[in-house]
Amino acid sequence: MIQSIKRAKSFQGTVTVPGDKSISHRALMFGAMARGETRIANLAPGKDVQSTLQCIENLGISVEADDKGIHIRGAGLKGFHPPQSALNAGNSGTTMRLLAGILAAQPFTSMITGDASLSRRPMDRIIVPLSQMGAHIEAQPGGTAPLKIHGKDLHPIHYHSSVASAQVKSCVLLAGLHTRGVTSVTEPAISRDHTERILREFGASVTQNDLTVSVEGPAQLQGIPISVPGDISAAAFFMIAACLVPDADIRIRDVGINPTRTGILSSLERMGCMINLNNKRKAGGEPVADLMIRSSRLRGSVIEGDIIPQLVDEIPVLAIAALFAEGTTRVKDAGELRVKETDRIAALEKNIRLMGGEIDTFDDGFSITGPQKLKGATLDSFGDHRIAMAFAVAGLLADGETIIRNAECAEISHPGFYHDLRVLSYV
Ligand code: S3P
Repeated sequence: MIQSIKRAKSFQGTVTVPGDKSISHRALMFGAMARGETRIANLAPGKDVQSTLQCIENLGISVEADDKGIHIRGAGLKGFHPPQSALNAGNSGTTMRLLAGILAAQPFTSMITGDASLSRRPMDRIIVPLSQMGAHIEAQPGGTAPLKIHGKDLHPIHYHSSVASAQVKSCVLLAGLHTRGVTSVTEPAISRDHTERILREFGASVTQNDLTVSVEGPAQLQGIPISVPGDISAAAFFMIAACLVPDADIRIRDVGINPTRTGILSSLERMGCMINLNNKRKAGGEPVADLMIRSSRLRGSVIEGDIIPQLVDEIPVLAIAALFAEGTTRVKDAGELRVKETDRIAALEKNIRLMGGEIDTFDDGFSITGPQKLKGATLDSFGDHRIAMAFAVAGLLADGETIIRNAECAEISHPGFYHDLRVLSYV
């Protein structure tokens, strides 16, 4: 699909973003591992979460939908059935890496595959700790998917991860729930903590001590109702469009503001963005608010160190903000961007240059000096939803028409994204 975007004169209105993708994956998987019923309201509608849903159905879990949401009848920690066919994680790293932690402890062998992008992404980061716990996993040369997972009786470990990754942390903790004893993960910086929060709600014993998280197994999880807040990573595209388009004033309703995800709010505030958080409350163990954002004069900023895991998915669209900010924005310590759905640093460089912009890139980040002028161009999404959506925002600010090829990948996380963008934009 090809998507055309034109410059916006103003950006006004109220928008609701889809349910949080990270929380939705976990609600489905933990509901499947629990005893009893888990009801999920506002499950993320994107393709990634559909991949998780199909995988758990393929493992014999009954999932039903009605007008209130999704109902899962959990099977208990070891109640999964051997899958009829290979489990397909599609484009979703969270599906593959978290599910691998569960499958490694099952009394059967399973195969998990992904699309071309996921089949290039590093899986040794989960194969190493799961093997230390006693699992036997066959991967492709280079440690990539498809993975053949021979489930075993696992033992607890204390794993020191070299990357701050919630996917790695969650994989090891989920495997740890099946062992007898305490499994711990120490990270170099704090990554998103949805696994810890939701597992506690399901009745697991989870403790946190500085950069170390521990779970105690074997766990007895009990199904619960979960209401998924709006996805701050989906909200980021609208937030930055509102900062940059003249005469903008928008409200984004019911957005999750978990402190391990709000690096985008603090960075944008530091850059001079006018954001107000209204109606702060708690929903399903997670803090939620309505965000009000107006056109703002931005200044450049340095984004590095421990904040990176707290805004890692928002960096592509933050680069668009940097193009229009006064002064230099430097992003460092973000080498993980090279191994996301595409190499996001390379994708930013290609598309920004095609729009006539300038960016210096490094192994672990980039530097952009603004403000710059962009011209409409024909760009590729590289099959990456966050690249497609970041450059749709750039298109609102560029002269002439911007064409995004392979734009349909936005459906990975936000079906209806272009429609929602159009509704707020006055061209
Ligand atoms: C996610 C964790 C992050 C993030 C991804 C979702 C999760 O990946 O980029 O979009 O749901 O745990 P890493 O943990 O690999 O950094």
